Amino acid sequence: RISLNQGVLTTARIQENAQEEKKKVALTFDDGPHPQFTPEMLEVLQECDVPATFFLLGEEVEKYPEIVKQIQEDGHLIGNHSYKHEQLSKLTMEQACAQVNRTNKLICDITGTYTSYVRPPFGDWHEKLDCQINMVEVLWDVDTLDWSSQNHAGIVNKVLKNVKENDIILMHDGYETSVTAAKEIIETLQKQGYEFVTVDEILFD
Ligand code: NI
Repeated sequence: RISLNQGVLTTARIQENAQEEKKKVALTFDDGPHPQFTPEMLEVLQECDVPATFFLLGEEVEKYPEIVKQIQEDGHLIGNHSYKHEQLSKLTMEQACAQVNRTNKLICDITGTYTSYVRPPFGDWHEKLDCQINMVEVLWDVDTLDWSSQNHAGIVNKVLKNVKENDIILMHDGYETSVTAAKEIIETLQKQGYEFVTVDEILFD
């Protein structure tokens, strides 16, 4: 894949863009990496040839560094989801900063780069963290509640009923039903003219 001629690749992309400007949508997966279902999710994403964004927990990153490496090698975007999923606003600023900074360091030790993206657990940012940590906070537009329902059809329907252009979809890569639902969501939305991108392309385009 690395040996592909870059000029050819660029030309192909320009032609594709000229043909039709697709509606963008971003899949995001929180709370991983999970030893079984993250690799399964990565397989689905590779089969479908779409990128996604993974918001990782530091304590899981520590346990499964090889999966973090795979996420990076597969071309996905990695974000920070704190160290152990505590509600940051309930911590002192020092504790909250430590949750984020420790995870940044763990991810960087594996990938070689510091992520600029953070999704606070429960979408609850510590208000004073902005002046301490210079990162982009990423929330979501469509909450699948996949962790709660663990119901394939329910997850798929929630997305298909609510999604619109430039939406960020919240899922979790720790459940079999999330893996199978993600596959159906991707295939269905692609048929509707959606293009899957990483969150940076939604936030900064
Ligand atoms: Ni979470």
